[in-house]
Amino acid sequence: MGTIISYPKDFVWGVSTSAYQIEGSLDRDGRGPSIWDTLSAIPGRIHEGDDASVACDSYVRYEEDIALMKELGVKAYRFSVSWPRIYPTGDGEVNPAGVEHYKRFVRKLRENGIEPFCTLYHWELPQALQDRGGWENRETVHAFVRFAETMFREFDGLIEKWMTFNEPWCTAINGHLLGRHAPGIMNWQSAIQVSHHLLVAHGLTVRRFRELGVAGEIGYAPDMYWYEPFSRKPEDVEAAKRAFGIYNWYVEPVFTGRYPEEMAAWLKTKGAAPVVEPGDMEIISEKIDFLGLNFYGGNIVRHKPGNNYLDLEHVDLGYDKSDKGWFIFPEGLYLMLNWLTDRFGQIPIYITENGVSYNDVVEDGRVQDQKRIKFLESHIAEIGRAIESGANVKGYLTWSLMDNFEWAFGYSCRFGLVYVDFRTQARIPKESFYWYQKLIRKNWLQLESR
Ligand code: BGC
Repeated sequence: MGTIISYPKDFVWGVSTSAYQIEGSLDRDGRGPSIWDTLSAIPGRIHEGDDASVACDSYVRYEEDIALMKELGVKAYRFSVSWPRIYPTGDGEVNPAGVEHYKRFVRKLRENGIEPFCTLYHWELPQALQDRGGWENRETVHAFVRFAETMFREFDGLIEKWMTFNEPWCTAINGHLLGRHAPGIMNWQSAIQVSHHLLVAHGLTVRRFRELGVAGEIGYAPDMYWYEPFSRKPEDVEAAKRAFGIYNWYVEPVFTGRYPEEMAAWLKTKGAAPVVEPGDMEIISEKIDFLGLNFYGGNIVRHKPGNNYLDLEHVDLGYDKSDKGWFIFPEGLYLMLNWLTDRFGQIPIYITENGVSYNDVVEDGRVQDQKRIKFLESHIAEIGRAIESGANVKGYLTWSLMDNFEWAFGYSCRFGLVYVDFRTQARIPKESFYWYQKLIRKNWLQLESR
């Protein structure tokens, strides 16, 4: 009989997805093009030339997805709204067909007893705004707030959990420094100015939410990773601080109204510093109701100038990895939750993403993804430890309900509890689906002694 870890009675078990990764139907009901359509059309940018024109076809098949979620027993579903479906050119006229689609969808979720957790920005910037400078242009901030306001008004009473941005680090660094994500820019100053605009847009949206008196709660969903130095040599310790600090760049100011000083000093050595207007830091630190944490792992790092954008390297000490080579570090989640609690107090936290990709295969109609079960089990156990230590963790929404379009990796990464055959759109629940279903039903975890 192994250790048993129980979760609070009202703990919210859920699953996550995002619009672009599952919906398909990019030309339907008046949707405008987004920066990801543009990037996907450039040869060589997406693995094997994949694109999201069909993805999981969820724009059409959403009732089937909801039926799967009902069978799974989740209390919550985190999804995102595609901005170019609501405003095809980013601002201008609202597209009523887009609004109606999400209303039908959200009503259906609620009829099935599943609470909608809505992300407003999961990387789908309307291309028309990119043509005017995208997130580097402060006007985009105001266009975003108008879009958010439309959503708050239209969905008041239907959606009570809102998130402004998903992973601002990804938009800024992957999209504007490393060039891996749309819009594919590679420039430190752009990345840091975009970061600032994303944070200002976040804060102004929270402010607007309060002014409008919308019923419900608002937060956002940054990604964070836990890093340890390879050795206690000062340069390795500094490298680990940078690895952690670049993610914290999107967290610290939201809670304290200040950018972390050491990181700001290091960024200056790269010639990057945000242009901050008077009042911006107050806007950024507008109080949120909860933090959504996206956690995928962590690693051991050491100083290595010129090796990557942070002048460090990741050291492979033989820890488990996903099939994409991402390092698995469950204890990092415990350490992270404690760190957040020590630093910012007992803020309500939802784990808004956590999951792993493996090259799953169907054999005799089943997908035996034991490694994913181990991943989920170990991370969920660490959450139990953190709750017992005082972290105010309210829920866990795993990434992802189903295999989907994994951005620049196309369809080559499978993160789902449900296997998707992208040729036929058949959905096959994996073993991890049944494992999670049982966990939700019991609300406690039994760790087998190994
Ligand atoms: C993103 C998801 C993505 C997942 C796995 C997160 O960075 O929010 O859109 O699919 O991680 O890479």
